[in-house]
Amino acid sequence: MPLTAEPLTDEATGTFRIGGGPTVRRLGFGAMRLTGPGIWGEPEDPDECRRVLRRAVELGVNLIDTADSYGPEVSERLIAEALHPYPEGLVIATKGGLTRTGPGQWPRNGRPDHLREACEASLRRLKLDRIELYQLHAPDENVPYEESLGALIELREEGKIAHIGISNVSVELLDQALAMTEVVTVQNRYNLADRASEDVLDACTERGIGFIPWFPLATGQLAQPGGPLDDVAQANDATPSQIALAWLLARSPIMLPIPGTAKVAHLEENLAAAQVRLDDAEIRTLADAVAA
Ligand SMILES: NC(=O)c1ccc[n+]([C@@H]2O[C@H](COP(=O)([O-])OP(=O)(O)OC[C@H]3O[C@@H](n4cnc5c(N)ncnc54)[C@H](OP(=O)(O)O)[C@@H]3O)[C@@H](O)[C@H]2O)c1
Repeated sequence: MPLTAEPLTDEATGTFRIGGGPTVRRLGFGAMRLTGPGIWGEPEDPDECRRVLRRAVELGVNLIDTADSYGPEVSERLIAEALHPYPEGLVIATKGGLTRTGPGQWPRNGRPDHLREACEASLRRLKLDRIELYQLHAPDENVPYEESLGALIELREEGKIAHIGISNVSVELLDQALAMTEVVTVQNRYNLADRASEDVLDACTERGIGFIPWFPLATGQLAQPGGPLDDVAQANDATPSQIALAWLLARSPIMLPIPGTAKVAHLEENLAAAQVRLDDAEIRTLADAVAA
């Protein structure tokens, strides 16, 4: 029988504490896909997107990742429409530092004044007094990283954000950030087929910093049948997407995957990954079978 959705438990997912703050289950939801093509404009089926968000929370997800730039504004707005007033313990992690000029276009803007405006607009859209986890979306080569991060430190001092995360960074930039302040999460691209950020993941594991792998399903490629995940999937009565996510969860105790989808059926399939237990041989086989 294939695995089907059942509510997540702390035991099944493992948990991670965000700084000194809330504890989240290690399988979250990425809300970037709740938009139109090219992560631009309104989604084709906004009702289904709201259902996805409500079902995620109903199934025990308490970490949702978004950004002001998804849509732009659309993903954050849908989250508020579907879930506000928010259940206790739900962490909505958003980001600032990218602007949008059209579908698939993501110019960076790490200027302190932009980050302040972006954060304040996210607070209004999400109907929050404080953002539990605010992430600097990407370094801006035209702005010294200390200046961008400095803006987030000020926002935290003012109580507008509780914890700082960073994204799309090298180990050097992580170290630079840690020399300035506490950083509770790093969000980089990472999945079975793309392990270029292995060194950043290892640095996070050593330091107990949460690692949020974006593109955990390689934008859906790892969810397709007929690939190198099939044998292990069949042996576990699981689907390839569940195996890709279970491999991530097994890779490090600080791993916080946030698979994205605009479909309830895919959400349910992905969350059932928490029930998969891979043995050491399967973990090694998968790592070898999928070229990194
Ligand atoms: N920090 C950054 O720079 C950055 C960059 C990119 C993403 N992110 C974050 O990371 C999250 C995850 O990344 P992602 O959503 O782009 O990639 P992903 O989770 O690897 O893949 C999402 C894609 O896979 C498809 N999919 C999901 N579950 C599936 C299933 N069970 N079977 C078949 N197809 C499936 C989805 O299509 P359907 O909608 O059809 O299911 C969607 O197109 C984002 O939502 C966002 O929050 C951050």
